[in-house]
Amino acid sequence: MNDPDLVIRSGDLSDIKYIMELEQGSIVHPWDSKAIESLIVDPNKKCLVADLHGEVVGYVGAETVLDECNIGNIVTHKDYRGRGFASVMMENLLSVLKDMGINKLFLEVEHDNGPAIALYEKFGFVRYGLRRDYYGQGKDAILMSLDL
Ligand SMILES: CC(C)(COP(=O)(O)OP(=O)(O)OC[C@H]1O[C@@H](n2cnc3c(N)ncnc32)[C@H](O)[C@@H]1OP(=O)(O)O)[C@@H](O)C(=O)NCCC(=O)NCCS
Repeated sequence: MNDPDLVIRSGDLSDIKYIMELEQGSIVHPWDSKAIESLIVDPNKKCLVADLHGEVVGYVGAETVLDECNIGNIVTHKDYRGRGFASVMMENLLSVLKDMGINKLFLEVEHDNGPAIALYEKFGFVRYGLRRDYYGQGKDAILMSLDL
């Protein structure tokens, strides 16, 4: 389900407040503006936003080290979920990372976050470990990786 009006582009500094709003509405421990700014300006990091008619309706943030990358977060605005937006963001991110020479991706996801786990599995991520209580008592992190 691809919306022809959806544009995936690099995030810029004027997007920070919208990315923060997305985080605050969706993530238990949202990133602060400094962390998001660093995603945008640091050449070793990547921030892509999903822009629908000028509105930031999603974003993905990742950090690279040599030929590896850690996906820190991916969020679609609550009102726009289930429309394939995260899939389009992920396709774009994987393509950009491949062009940068990245070979391996890693991420952590809360064990009961069904939609996110299903998204990652759709793109071929596999589980390789578990971090107990990573997000708080009883909130384990599933560790996933993907060979690009
Ligand atoms: C996870 C999230 C980014 C998915 O965004 P989305 O734009 O709704 O995702 P898409 O519509 O592109 O769906 C992609 C895949 O995710 C999975 N998925 C999405 N919503 C799902 C749901 N409610 N239940 C199960 N699987 C779901 C499916 O595998 C889907 O692929 P398919 O439609 O081909 O079956 C979104 O739910 C979100 O923002 N959640 C809150 C933030 C979060 O938890 N991020 C991950 C942190 S690690």
